[in-house]
Amino acid sequence: MTEKAPKLRAALDGIPTYKPGRPPAADGPAAYKLSSNENPYPPLPGVLESAVSAAGFLNRYPDMACGALLDELASRFDVPVSHLATGTGSVGVAQQLLQATAGPGDEVVYAWRSFEAYPIITQISGAASVRVPLTEGEDHDLDAMADAVTDRTRLIFVCNPNNPTGNALRRAELERFLDRVPGDVLVVLDEAYREFVRDEDVPDGIELYRDRPNVCVLRTFSKAYGLAGLRVGFAVAHEPVAAALRKTAVPFGVSQIAQDAAVASLRSEDELLKRVEALVEERQRVREGLLEQGWTVPDTQANFVWLRLGERTAEFAEVCEKAGVTVRPFAGEGVRVTIGETAANDIFLRTAGDFREGLRSR
Ligand SMILES: Cc1ncc(COP(=O)(O)O)c(C=O)c1O
Repeated sequence: MTEKAPKLRAALDGIPTYKPGRPPAADGPAAYKLSSNENPYPPLPGVLESAVSAAGFLNRYPDMACGALLDELASRFDVPVSHLATGTGSVGVAQQLLQATAGPGDEVVYAWRSFEAYPIITQISGAASVRVPLTEGEDHDLDAMADAVTDRTRLIFVCNPNNPTGNALRRAELERFLDRVPGDVLVVLDEAYREFVRDEDVPDGIELYRDRPNVCVLRTFSKAYGLAGLRVGFAVAHEPVAAALRKTAVPFGVSQIAQDAAVASLRSEDELLKRVEALVEERQRVREGLLEQGWTVPDTQANFVWLRLGERTAEFAEVCEKAGVTVRPFAGEGVRVTIGETAANDIFLRTAGDFREGLRSR
């Protein structure tokens, strides 16, 4: 036996591990998972059938070019196929973007707190993270983010709506920001929750990308479309960026099951969007309920709500779990709670109300 161990890149030292939302323990009290921003509805029948039918060809590699899916997306969003690239979830596409743009000595700017994968995939790339704190009102501080751009900046993530706070940037402020960012810095508009947006002032990133070659939009089938388990997301970007995404893709990364289910989902969009609408109504109900209880809740445009509980975060998460729902705590900061089944939302609301009452009487 040799004393030597394989040499690993120093960039990996101290990397934070991605914490998935906790599922309810098999023998525990919680019955509902409100910790991963998943869609509580099962796949639509047509979608399930196409996935099952693709499973009959598991001995074959998938279509590496994702041809049928790209054709469907191109007509759905009115963009050229050459401006589209797919990946293993939009987090996979985000990682490909970093591989294509950033390495040691470079900088990646993003708001914090935001999607917890950003620091991880940035560190893996070897680039340095430049985190710009959210404002008091939990918004991206776009002026500070633009000020943070240096000669070393290669990529900026803008999460709209922001995970975990749920609030969204509006057109005028986002356009002003994009006008300030140099054209050789890639701005990634991460719109994982776009379908849940109801505020008309929140722009559709795909409209913003059209005349801005340094803007790339990320979308996913994991949230509104309910295909989180299949791992398929995509980017809309101008040619050089989309071509770079094809170069950095894991070959055959998106399974045929995922591709066919995604196509079927796009074709069942009316039905799917009815479900999204029901979730948006539930979101409204939950947020209003929390406001009535006296909580401060950002104006969420996503499928979750954010409670900034500070030092009470862990305690609140534990109380929720005992009551029957798992939520997503960010230690010392707050709790993100996904809008789920009505019964789950009811349990959460009741628990939040009781907790607040308890705080008053302490
Ligand atoms: C803001 C944001 N972007 C991207 C993702 C990644 O989603 P997926 O990789 O499932 O497409 C998530 C998932 O939670 C998210 O919250």
